[in-house]
Amino acid sequence: MRWRPAARLVLLCLAFGFCSLLYAFSHRGDRNTEQETPTSLPRRVGQRTGPRYGQSEERCQDFSLSFWNPYWMLPIGKCGKDCFWEAAFRYKIPVNHGMEAMHLAVVACGSRLEETITMLKSAVLFSRKFLQFHIFAEDSLHYDFKTTLNGWTFPEKFKYTLYPITFPTENAAEWKKLFKPCASQRLFLPLILKEVDSLLYVDTDILFLRPFDDIWSFLNNFNATHIAAMAPEHEEPRIGWYNRFARHPYYGKTGINSGVMLMNMTRMRRKHFKNDMTTSRLHWGDLLLPLFKKYKLNITWGDQDLLNIMFSHNPESLFVFPCQWNYRPDHCIYGSNCHEAEDGIFVLHGNRGVYHDEKQPAFRAVYEAFRNYSFGNDLIHSLLNPLELELQKTVHTYCGRIHNLFTKQLTKTIEDLYRRQSNVR
Ligand SMILES: *[C@@H]1O[C@H](CO)[C@@H](O)[C@H](O)[C@H]1NC(C)=O
Ligand SMILES: *[C@@H]1O[C@H](CO)[C@@H](O)[C@H](O)[C@H]1NC(C)=O
Ligand SMILES: *[C@@H]1O[C@H](CO)[C@@H](O)[C@H](O)[C@H]1NC(C)=O
Ligand SMILES: *[C@@H]1O[C@H](CO)[C@@H](O)[C@H](O)[C@H]1NC(C)=O
Repeated sequence: MRWRPAARLVLLCLAFGFCSLLYAFSHRGDRNTEQETPTSLPRRVGQRTGPRYGQSEERCQDFSLSFWNPYWMLPIGKCGKDCFWEAAFRYKIPVNHGMEAMHLAVVACGSRLEETITMLKSAVLFSRKFLQFHIFAEDSLHYDFKTTLNGWTFPEKFKYTLYPITFPTENAAEWKKLFKPCASQRLFLPLILKEVDSLLYVDTDILFLRPFDDIWSFLNNFNATHIAAMAPEHEEPRIGWYNRFARHPYYGKTGINSGVMLMNMTRMRRKHFKNDMTTSRLHWGDLLLPLFKKYKLNITWGDQDLLNIMFSHNPESLFVFPCQWNYRPDHCIYGSNCHEAEDGIFVLHGNRGVYHDEKQPAFRAVYEAFRNYSFGNDLIHSLLNPLELELQKTVHTYCGRIHNLFTKQLTKTIEDLYRRQSNVR
């Protein structure tokens, strides 16, 4: 009969199609595992999140079981016949948020848990687009981060990944000898988060008084040579540190502060940096070690100094944003010198521990107001009003005297948020 060969062909195609499908499913799993645990730090992340917390979640991580026999007795913790389907469906296919996620990285060590959580809270409160947090933390803090962040019940707003403090695999031993891991982690972000295009790195003592989206949008203002954005270390050279004391090159007139650092990491990874060590230009990853070796006896503020040296040789690569995006005690302790902040403070940076001591009560008041606030409460009654009351008590200090700058943008941000929400309803 004439239809026979054709039918056989169809059958063959069907069978082949089915096999490809199965093959694709099992490999889709492989690819996603890699995504969950970035290649440069594969094992440790898995271990932390694995056996101790949430065994069942990790059950199907091992996709080597890509065929099964229903009579097999499998050890506890291995999944059997459901592997195909779980491999295909257990990893949430990234929800399409209608736009790219905004990435935020922070490094938390020692006693910085509460401060970091408060910073993340301020980011998530006002942001409009989806946020992806990359939290590098000492192992001992992982459990508390998980517990707190899993308690924030609005998955449509953010996602987080916890990483151990780590070095890139190349030269790891040498990095370990030279760098304090916690302090220098941020230098390695472009090498560790290889899949991430752009990222805002912040210190733990940052508070966002304006939607995260607004600082993120500086990325769109980058010209062809910009790779990163930071604020100046000082506005007033007379009280500047670098211009008076540094024993190494630094960017611009007063240096730059690395507590708020916006990066196009794709560009950072691609760029060849001019430097004062060789006549040839070097990649980011090849630059750090020789630079550190050359300047280690002369640097005071660790990795911020290295960034200053790098950008002093490559000034066309740095986008400098105004001081109200990284507002520090230095901007008001001897009188107000960040003129842009007259429009309000957008990002507050309580460096030198001022959130936790008595030296700058205005900074501390803002921190405590955010810390005290619980999601779901009214922002005016539970955040803004108590803050304003507390700030009234600080007017004997230089920073407290201009306390209206601390709440000017925050008030507007809260009003905008409520307006947005009432439009949605
Ligand atoms: C380190 O500082 C000393 C003293 O100011 C200076 O002589 C030396 O050139 C500096 N080293 C480098 C590598 O700049
Ligand atoms: C970062 O730079 C790359 C290369 O120039 C570009 O393709 C990408 O769109 C930039 N990312 C952002 C968020 O602007
Ligand atoms: C980008 O802006 C910087 C100043 O921030 C400037 O030095 C550089 O030449 C500009 N690059 C281009 C390609 O215009
Ligand atoms: C935050 O709460 C503490 C008590 O837990 C209180 O002393 C402080 O005044 C509060 N601060 C603000 C700004 O609400």
